Amino acid sequence: MGNVIRVQHLNYTYPEAKHQALTDVSFDVAKGEWLAIIGHNGSGKSTLAKNLNGLLAPESGTVEVAGMTLSEETVWDIRAKVGIVFQNPDNQFVGATVADDVAFGLENRGVPRDEMVKRVDESLERVGMTAFADREPARLSGGQKQRVAIAGIIAQRPEIIILDESTSMLDPAGRQEVLGVIRELKDELNLTVLSITHDIDEAAVAHRIILLNDGKINEIGTPSDIFAHGTDLLRLGLDVPYSEKLKDALIQRGVAMPKAYLDNERLVDYLWTLHSTM
Ligand SMILES: Nc1ncnc2c1ncn2[C@@H]1O[C@H](COP(=O)(O)OP(=O)(O)O)[C@@H](O)[C@H]1O
Ligand SMILES: [Mg+2]
Repeated sequence: MGNVIRVQHLNYTYPEAKHQALTDVSFDVAKGEWLAIIGHNGSGKSTLAKNLNGLLAPESGTVEVAGMTLSEETVWDIRAKVGIVFQNPDNQFVGATVADDVAFGLENRGVPRDEMVKRVDESLERVGMTAFADREPARLSGGQKQRVAIAGIIAQRPEIIILDESTSMLDPAGRQEVLGVIRELKDELNLTVLSITHDIDEAAVAHRIILLNDGKINEIGTPSDIFAHGTDLLRLGLDVPYSEKLKDALIQRGVAMPKAYLDNERLVDYLWTLHSTM
């Protein structure tokens, strides 16, 4: 398998900024891995994403993607390997129709017309948006817009897809819609997925989670390692779900509850086992 991303001692400071946005960040990502990145607002998550695809250039340290070290010579090749889906679906459209929009990135890279048409069709098919090819992007739902944004990235045949809070403006159905598409694409295309999120259920499907705090890696671990922090997760930058709040309230009242994170379903199962032993 091997690593598709290797970051070593990465530092980044914005021009004119007083503080470093990233300090001595090092980690590897295996090919085909799903890695979540969590942390409070301003902890450096988006800055890290932009350093991984060359939208920002490291101040010091190295970023390697698919065997290439990020530099002025490799930046365009790396950008083609790493696609970022941003938070606000409305800021991501340039085309008058859905198909134009998906074609835009390919046009910019000089992909020949026949090949372009083929890739646009294929990508819209993969995200289930073929029927919308001639529609205006502005008229789509939030989840559909993000699926089109994903199609635009997939059309460029990336190895890595970064979701930078891409589901945070969507309703629960839209979130499921987008995550479902990503999960399928990941398997079909052997993609590596980095998802920046405040959503515990989105973080829970990752193989590993990186916790950023003030530009530094605070912890890297499996979801169960990280979720063992319980309601401290709020402070660490995740939205604490209803099931965890209820669990804490029950603990306050002296009910014995497991320390591990329980989603709604598992909480209900646990409460039933308690009930049957009473
Ligand atoms: N364009 C910018 N210019 C100057 N400082 C910035 C810029 N973008 C972000 N920052 C600062 O860098 C730090 C990290 O920001 P960011 O990576 O956006 O965090 P996150 O995505 O985790 O919310 C914050 O202190 C933020 O204020
Ligand atoms: Mg951000």
